[in-house]
Amino acid sequence: MSNYHIKHLEEYYQVYRKSVRNPEAFWEEIAEEHFVWRKRWDTVLSWDFKKPEIKWFEGAKLNITENCLDRHLPTRGEKTAIIFEPNNPEEEALHITYRQLHERVCRMANVLLDHGVKKGDRVCIYLPMIPELSVALLACARIGAIHSVVFAGFSSHALSTRINDSDCKIVLTSDGSFRGNKAIDLKGIVDKALEACPGVANVLVVNRTGSDIHMEPTRDKWLQPLLDEAYADCVAEIMDAEDPLFILYTSGSTGTPKGMVHTTAGYMVYTAYTFKNVFQYTENDVYWCTADIGWITGHSYIVYGPLANGATTLMFEGVPSYPDFGRFWEVVEKHKVNQFYTAPTAIRALAKENLEYVEKYDLSSLKVLGSVGEPINEEAWHWYNNNVGKKNSPIVDTWWQTETGGIMITPIPYVTPTTPTYATLPFIGIQPALMDENAKEVKGNQVEGRLCVKFPWPSIARTIWGNHDRYRDTYFSAYENMYFTGDGALRDAVGYYRITGRVDDVIIVSGHNLGTAPIEDAINEHPAVAESAIVGFPHDVKGNALYGYVILKETGESRDRDNLRKEINQQITEHVGPIAKLDKIQFVNGLPKTRSGKIMRRILRKIASNDTSNLGDTSTLLNPEIVQEIMDNSL
Ligand code: WTA
Repeated sequence: MSNYHIKHLEEYYQVYRKSVRNPEAFWEEIAEEHFVWRKRWDTVLSWDFKKPEIKWFEGAKLNITENCLDRHLPTRGEKTAIIFEPNNPEEEALHITYRQLHERVCRMANVLLDHGVKKGDRVCIYLPMIPELSVALLACARIGAIHSVVFAGFSSHALSTRINDSDCKIVLTSDGSFRGNKAIDLKGIVDKALEACPGVANVLVVNRTGSDIHMEPTRDKWLQPLLDEAYADCVAEIMDAEDPLFILYTSGSTGTPKGMVHTTAGYMVYTAYTFKNVFQYTENDVYWCTADIGWITGHSYIVYGPLANGATTLMFEGVPSYPDFGRFWEVVEKHKVNQFYTAPTAIRALAKENLEYVEKYDLSSLKVLGSVGEPINEEAWHWYNNNVGKKNSPIVDTWWQTETGGIMITPIPYVTPTTPTYATLPFIGIQPALMDENAKEVKGNQVEGRLCVKFPWPSIARTIWGNHDRYRDTYFSAYENMYFTGDGALRDAVGYYRITGRVDDVIIVSGHNLGTAPIEDAINEHPAVAESAIVGFPHDVKGNALYGYVILKETGESRDRDNLRKEINQQITEHVGPIAKLDKIQFVNGLPKTRSGKIMRRILRKIASNDTSNLGDTSTLLNPEIVQEIMDNSL
């Protein structure tokens, strides 16, 4: 029996039991046998959820890029590490071998060093899905710099907030990006963002679209000539196990985005181990995750997890609808993809189109289908299973979070029998708990509650950059000695978990986490707006869409409502990004508030979802009469 690669259900149960009975011994064995270390750890785990403080493999020294690159060179040097499939299908795909990737990473690492980037410095990466993006992450890791990737669909305002929060001195970007038949002016967005970021001294620019852009003298440089001149080898910085590897921002219920900090050794061990098992990756497979590297899914399961296993990982620059709705399946056929990992929103969008788009292509290479980011509804699950998997490829519905670093609850394909809409069983080492309203754990099966985790796993985020108190308050204060996920879940008769959705004010739109606060801030900055509240409501493609309730100032009352709606969405696009645009905007005279002045979003959510049969007790509201008025005019 190999603890590293689980192949049978009995084996899963056996290894699972081992991993929770003696987590230290279990993870020590995995770490020892499957990774390269410069120095062994002194302590496998020390933890205290009260402080909170979690340390894995303390005392160990390593560099994650030696695990993702160098160690593969003797045996896999000529193997393809990354397949790059460009936006335009007419442009040739690239196959980058491990040796070439190693060289590219070293060159970029040297360019960063030449620009004064040192161990512990933060580097902002704002790039489209092109090879330089993966190279940039690894180049930072090579020299011990902390990467902070910002999804290249975020606006200049969102970008500047993130750059300033983590105090980045350097930004890597490109002239533009291709998405379908559009070219987006990324550099223009960066220029605008940097007006608010005086700390940024250097911008290194990849030439992707060849568009005419402004280059700020002394600050901006084209990257390619620097890479061409750089030395092709770079000694890896020796890192401590708990040195930060990256910061990645995620939305919270309130306030600004949270810069989740992931550290080196535990993250590496857990993402590699989950990748191997959740996708049942074997040596010559081609694996494709369609996420953007701007999200955690891309960090863990396009870059680090696959490369640590010496896998071939596909990066796709484009969108599922270009040049037509068959693009995903064309790419699967072209590169003989074996594991395909995507989001329910993409599946729902494609399921609306003609089946011929799927049937045209040979999908027989597929062995495993994955889903992530939001609950997958039954209809989408069956469509995926029948038409993509031909009932032959198990679907792994993987539940996890930016904060968890790796997949937490998931079937193991060919091991765990799947049930539509269920993420099924906890992964090895994960100890979930469901909590009731009285903060007590609900034991047994056929129960529901708030989803927590009782024991640390190696890739849990260690803090929020610059705000450890917020980390404690958000994740460790709701329930004693538990990590609280923000999700609700149920456990069925056989112990399978089904995630029922967020129990806080985070709204998941097309698989993207959106916090209400930055969006409301953006709306409120419109000169005609006095106040606003946004909530989610069910949407058949996006999962949830956004519904905004807006109170106008007296001066705004005379304005044309449709124009205002457009301007409000424009405002959101500029401040947050187009993903946060509202589907519906209702102008109201007031918002339901508690006596302490808190907006009762629960009521607004119900109205937006057309579910007003049971609004609960509204008598305690400061202004109960407003509820009926809002209902009467709802969209
Ligand atoms: C939701 C994405 C149901 C959940 C990896 C979680 C899911 C949030 C699933 C984290 C799933 C993710 N089923 N819900 N399989 N996967 N979620 O940080 O609400 O972008 O808390 O991480 O997405 O989103 P994040």
